[in-house]
Amino acid sequence: MTHPRTALVTGANRGIGLAIAQALGRQGLNVILAARHLAEATAAAEGIPGASSIALDLADAASIQRALGEIEGRVDVLVNNAGVCPEGSATAVPMTEVRRAFEVHLFGPLALIRGLLPGMLNRDYGRIVNVSSGWGSFAEGLTGPFAYSVSKAALDALTLNLSLSTELTGNLKVNACCPGWVHTRMGGPAAPRTPDQGADTPVWLATLPPDGPTGGFFRDRAPIAW
Ligand SMILES: NC(=O)c1ccc[n+]([C@@H]2O[C@H](COP(=O)([O-])OP(=O)(O)OC[C@H]3O[C@@H](n4cnc5c(N)ncnc54)[C@H](OP(=O)(O)O)[C@@H]3O)[C@@H](O)[C@H]2O)c1
Repeated sequence: MTHPRTALVTGANRGIGLAIAQALGRQGLNVILAARHLAEATAAAEGIPGASSIALDLADAASIQRALGEIEGRVDVLVNNAGVCPEGSATAVPMTEVRRAFEVHLFGPLALIRGLLPGMLNRDYGRIVNVSSGWGSFAEGLTGPFAYSVSKAALDALTLNLSLSTELTGNLKVNACCPGWVHTRMGGPAAPRTPDQGADTPVWLATLPPDGPTGGFFRDRAPIAW
């Protein structure tokens, strides 16, 4: 019997992240649910067989390093799901919110990738899924609030550039996705999709077979333009 894979899901205490964690748990992965508040991650992990929880604030470099130390590189699947959506135009949104969006969507995910990639390379297996948004797509017009759209575009750029790196050898895949408009605290009550529907494409990317795609941007399991 092969050892179950371990997945780390950020922002897993609610919304799409929780649905991703539950779906990966149903598929037999050992899921580590990461959330800013440990008690919320622990409560969310209850009922997911084999799941555990960890405190992780992506806007806090020390919190990221503490979490990486606890995890000790034992992660095969990294789902960078956590997100924030500050309102406001380029000139109106407070700079602190712009910086927070970049911490949560770019620098935090990058720090996790840098911490976990060596273990993935050693084990010749890795799936990195960056949960982005159509609002971060140049092709779709970058139409969202400034800090959100620009930082998600940066996450997309990270995805593509990393996928092209010669350091990314073997059975490693890095992809980005848009979950669609999902009924969560961020998406709001008018959104047509359930969290489970929003989780479908990220879960698919998190469990891709060796001949699956890498370096792509997907919605509904189909490629979309950056
Ligand atoms: N909902 C949509 O329609 C939609 C559309 C396109 C893309 N997305 C993307 O899908 C992902 C999940 O969104 P969602 O709709 O599930 O949103 P959500 O319900 O608002 O959940 C956001 C999650 O991110 C976490 N988070 C925020 N700041 C964090 C930080 N500094 N460190 C760690 N975690 C942090 C939140 O934790 P707390 O509970 O502690 O705040 C929460 O778990 C996001 O990346 C979002 O941009 C969503």
